[in-house]
Amino acid sequence: MHYELDDASDSWHLGAVDPSGRVVGISSFYREACPARPEVPESFQLQFMAVDPSVQREGIGSSILSEGLRRLQSMGAKLLWASARDNAVPFYERFGFEVVPDSASLPASTGRPHHLILLEIQQQERREVGGGDRAPQMASDSAPVRTEPGNPFDLRGAWDQQSEAWTLWARAPEHDSYWRFGRAEFFQLLPAPGRLTLDVGCGEGRVSRDLIGIGHKVIALDASRAMMRATVEASPELPALVADAAALPVTDGCCDLVIAYMSLQDVDDMPSAVREVGRALEPGGHLCMAIVHPLNSAGRFASLDPNASFVIQGSYLDAHTYVETVARSGLEMTFSSVHRPIEAYFRALEEAGLMVESLREVPVGKPSSDDPRHQRWRRLPLFLFVRAVKGDRTPH
Ligand SMILES: C[S@@+](CC[C@H](N)C(=O)[O-])C[C@H]1O[C@@H](n2cnc3c(N)ncnc32)[C@H](O)[C@@H]1O
Repeated sequence: MHYELDDASDSWHLGAVDPSGRVVGISSFYREACPARPEVPESFQLQFMAVDPSVQREGIGSSILSEGLRRLQSMGAKLLWASARDNAVPFYERFGFEVVPDSASLPASTGRPHHLILLEIQQQERREVGGGDRAPQMASDSAPVRTEPGNPFDLRGAWDQQSEAWTLWARAPEHDSYWRFGRAEFFQLLPAPGRLTLDVGCGEGRVSRDLIGIGHKVIALDASRAMMRATVEASPELPALVADAAALPVTDGCCDLVIAYMSLQDVDDMPSAVREVGRALEPGGHLCMAIVHPLNSAGRFASLDPNASFVIQGSYLDAHTYVETVARSGLEMTFSSVHRPIEAYFRALEEAGLMVESLREVPVGKPSSDDPRHQRWRRLPLFLFVRAVKGDRTPH
């Protein structure tokens, strides 16, 4: 099939291929004004999005659309629009598309109602920033707020809203524990670069950038579109996908390493996320994860004294969401996370067929311990680092 705009100089086409090189997904992007918003410059029309029926529901359409949006954003496009079949509209809505009211039509070619859908493409503001990371309860002495048990809490939305604050925090030089000691200790656990590394919950992308720096081939994934914009702005060549960790848009066994640095405690459906990691890894592949240590998130120190008692109110064993705002060195960041007992993580690993090879309980690194508040965190672990390997056996 050939379409009149296919060969226009500003048209482009994206496809997906399987490991044998077979094309399993296609899409085309044409520079075209949107009938509902003709005044918007730099508008593109998405057409002919299709995935081979034999591999549908494996995230291939999501991957193509994510990559298309990433490219549109980096080229300064303002609007993407399409005429979508009624039963495909929910797929596009997950990416933020809106249906234009009263736009339904019934093209003779498909015999199904179509709707005009459009998405305004947000551009990331350019600003001078440093780098960042997190150490809840280390820098703040205000109590974290627990949400009511059973109260649904939108962790993904909370992190999306914090993307700008996080980007400033995460990039401020030496600002958080990643730069001061977390990175050095975590990277010691990593296997040598191999076939493909997924960075799940990549935030603004600092870990991905460091992985690339030591020779990994990386795909960065995060549920937050705004975080992803920051990632792509900093590394336009880095393949980056907006994706829920609990439904990774990748094929089974596609990679030999998954990194989840300080993200699994911020993911609402952690067991599904770990199961997805197990699915994405090839046998013998590794997950290297860092989380807020469950002891840390269970309680707090009674005072600032280096020998202060550590108090757990309520139950260590019960999971709860907590929200904490930390202000330090002119930056402020609100962390939204889930406390889960250590067993919850280890059960998830067990069920995903992942066996723990290395475990590190990480206190504050020595260089940051001059502050008397930090001395307390030389006695208890701030973080838990784990390296697990995917076995050959099928998980029970
Ligand atoms: C503390 S940040 C860590 C970012 C990065 N790994 C780093 O250390 O710089 C946690 C990240 O997890 C992401 N996240 C939360 N829920 C998620 C989900 N369901 N799927 C994927 N990412 C998620 C947030 O958007 C946020 O970017």
